Amino acid sequence: MLSTPRRSPTMVRRSSIWLLCVLAQVATAIYLPISQSCTPDKTAIRREWGEMAPAERKSYTDAVLCMTRKPPRLSTAEYPGVRSRFDDFVATHINNTLHVHYSGLFLPWHRRFTWLWERALREECGYTGYLPYWNWPLWTNDLKKSPLFDCSETSLSGDGEYNPDEQPISGGNMTIPRGSGGGCVRCGPFKDLQIHLGPFSRDLTSFTEIPSPKFEYNPRCFNRSLNNFVTSHYNNETIVSRLLASTDIVDFQTVMDHWPPRPDGVLGVHGGGHFSLGATMQDLFASPQDPAFMLHHCMIDRLWAMWQSRDEKNRRYALNGTTNILNPPWGQPVMLNTTMEFGVLDRPRKVREVMNPTGYGLCYTYT
Ligand code: CU
Ligand code: CU
Repeated sequence: MLSTPRRSPTMVRRSSIWLLCVLAQVATAIYLPISQSCTPDKTAIRREWGEMAPAERKSYTDAVLCMTRKPPRLSTAEYPGVRSRFDDFVATHINNTLHVHYSGLFLPWHRRFTWLWERALREECGYTGYLPYWNWPLWTNDLKKSPLFDCSETSLSGDGEYNPDEQPISGGNMTIPRGSGGGCVRCGPFKDLQIHLGPFSRDLTSFTEIPSPKFEYNPRCFNRSLNNFVTSHYNNETIVSRLLASTDIVDFQTVMDHWPPRPDGVLGVHGGGHFSLGATMQDLFASPQDPAFMLHHCMIDRLWAMWQSRDEKNRRYALNGTTNILNPPWGQPVMLNTTMEFGVLDRPRKVREVMNPTGYGLCYTYT
């Protein structure tokens, strides 16, 4: 005959231990997200390039060069031009270009992209600082004398060699005079940088297909052409103040990018930064090949973050536009649950996850 076994003192002790373990797990599950949340003491501070000590600037460019020496994660069979970890970022940008420019995804996607770059520098290349930004109005009169582009060992290199073939750029009623370089960069930390992807034509031929040369391998020197005309016209203090005074997201996007682009071709602050550094940085698809790209976009992210934080209720989750370049009528409107792609750099992310620099695992602020 079977009788219900009486629980021995050992069994009672075991079940109490089991209960304690469960309780501990529940407590950990509740506590961990709180402990991992972004508190002021854990918040990274991103600083302006000139504010950083020379040794800190050097450690940044050393980490960038480290990325150019690390093997890529993308397959070279599928992406022949991708030869390094640095190129993984360039190719991911090319892959997403037709979704994340002049569209509702511009600000959210580049926030995550620059954050992934910062994380890769820290986790893969031993960088201990955070992403610096290029505060345009500080240096609009003479880029060549700025700590960013003075070609010293603590700069991001400077102008390229003088290239007599560089021409002014005309668009609409506007002409941008040529810059002061246009040839290969031969001084500073990036004097030997070889770029592999692009160049892409300035004329957009399709809204949906990545144009030639896609991901072809095209090794060449890294070129620059510093252009004080562009930066003093389009990235000055007045325009930055105007951007921060934007009344809503549509206004903010317009000053940022003249979006939709103005028929007279006038640039927003975003285009201004790209057009003030020459051909590599002007390439809509392959511009992350200029090491200044990340600092330019860090400044854009800073201004967006500042603007958002000045009116939490109306601006924190403000979105406008579609998931396609130039917002064609058939484009899908961007919403908080829209998914963004980052290829080998990250798993897909919802727009919601990047709306706050101190939420969903992001934890940074700006000086
Ligand atoms: Cu971009
Ligand atoms: Cu850009």
